[in-house]
Amino acid sequence: MRYNQPMKRPARESLVIVGSILAGALLASWQAVAKTLTQAITAVSEQRAWQASAIPDRVILTVTATPATAQAVTWRTDTSVAPGQAVAQLAPASAYPKFAEKAQIFIAHTEPLLTDLAPTHCHSAVFTNLKPETLYAYRVGDGTNWSEWFHFRTASDKPKPFSFIYFGDAQNDIKSLWSRAIRSAYSELPKASLLLHAGDLINTRKDAEWGEWHYAAGWINGMTPSLPTPGNHEYSGTKTLTPNWRAQFTLPENGVPGLEETCYFVDYQGVRFVSLNSEEKQAEQAAWLDTLLSKNPNRWTILLFHRPMYSSAKGRDNKELRAQWLPIIEKHRVDLVLQGHDHTYARSQNLKMGVNTQSRDYGTVYVVSVSGPKMYTVEREPWMQRAAENTQLYQLVTVDGGALRYEARTVTGEVYDSFELKKRRNRPNLLIERGPKTPERLGEPSKQ
Ligand SMILES: [Fe+2]
Ligand SMILES: [Fe+2]
Repeated sequence: MRYNQPMKRPARESLVIVGSILAGALLASWQAVAKTLTQAITAVSEQRAWQASAIPDRVILTVTATPATAQAVTWRTDTSVAPGQAVAQLAPASAYPKFAEKAQIFIAHTEPLLTDLAPTHCHSAVFTNLKPETLYAYRVGDGTNWSEWFHFRTASDKPKPFSFIYFGDAQNDIKSLWSRAIRSAYSELPKASLLLHAGDLINTRKDAEWGEWHYAAGWINGMTPSLPTPGNHEYSGTKTLTPNWRAQFTLPENGVPGLEETCYFVDYQGVRFVSLNSEEKQAEQAAWLDTLLSKNPNRWTILLFHRPMYSSAKGRDNKELRAQWLPIIEKHRVDLVLQGHDHTYARSQNLKMGVNTQSRDYGTVYVVSVSGPKMYTVEREPWMQRAAENTQLYQLVTVDGGALRYEARTVTGEVYDSFELKKRRNRPNLLIERGPKTPERLGEPSKQ
């Protein structure tokens, strides 16, 4: 090579060919190695993968009926942590690292939970007499084996702007694929005050699935209170509520007797959230809801339940449930109904008797969404303002005085749907579409 001659760049085609040869060679050698190792690789057993120990895991905050002054926490250990030994410590959060000197101790309530994998203990504590709008630090343990310190902020005791995240069914491949829904949602809205789950958090009664669910959410669950409602898959197999539910969630018991921690309500900074259990005692819940909403001092009312009033997937209409609950929803002019079950996305405008009112008459916005990877086909109906198939989504909702702003986002963070509801004196909510005007995701991605 002569100095005065510029180096000739290899043609792009040659580079591609060389790259392909190298990649092919690497793949072939990896396959050869993998083949020889296959016999040595075995799956880690579920018992081992999701084994409890004396170190707390599955730490989760859940809403209480008085979120300005009380906060519930639940966690899991093996059975070596006996009833009476489990405790939680709580202190006002401070940048001073020795804040724990001022910590109070709460003795936990311990519930045995026998799963398909092992006997475990679930422990819970309810922090009470808290100050509204205050940042606290807490940890859980047995005096020797502790969790890390987590922070949470109590609610205001009066109406004040806040945001929450709502997830449709997680249900399948929870560790592998639902994890990206909760993590993306949290990264987009880390100051969310609540995490709503519209049922079918898991697929079967297997404890490994709950292990995946807690793993996917990780420390997010220790920082932001959850507000879950059960779906049919929490009832799978024996048609009774999975024992994991009440053992691992510490939720209000202010609903229909017999449906404790599944049918309940919480007033949060000007919003009445109601969780209804779509799997049991539907008529009793209709009567209870009617009474509950007759005296409602909150400006906004949001319902959360699993089986939708208006189905978004083929052949899944819930006629009987609709006959029982819809008249109450319409009578009390519920603002927003958040649902799951149909493994698709569909969102209405203000809907009354199944017809869009275009904000001219009182109506309710209904949403069906899905956050996990299991997908069904949308059955297009006139009430659907925006729909999707084959798309994992989560929803970010902000309530700010007389305005409610809603966004559905894909797990890759794109805004897929958004609208705003505005309260108007003695008139129906005004619904303003905010787009985006991108094509709907209907069908397989390759066909779009
Ligand atoms: Fe379901
Ligand atoms: Fe489901």
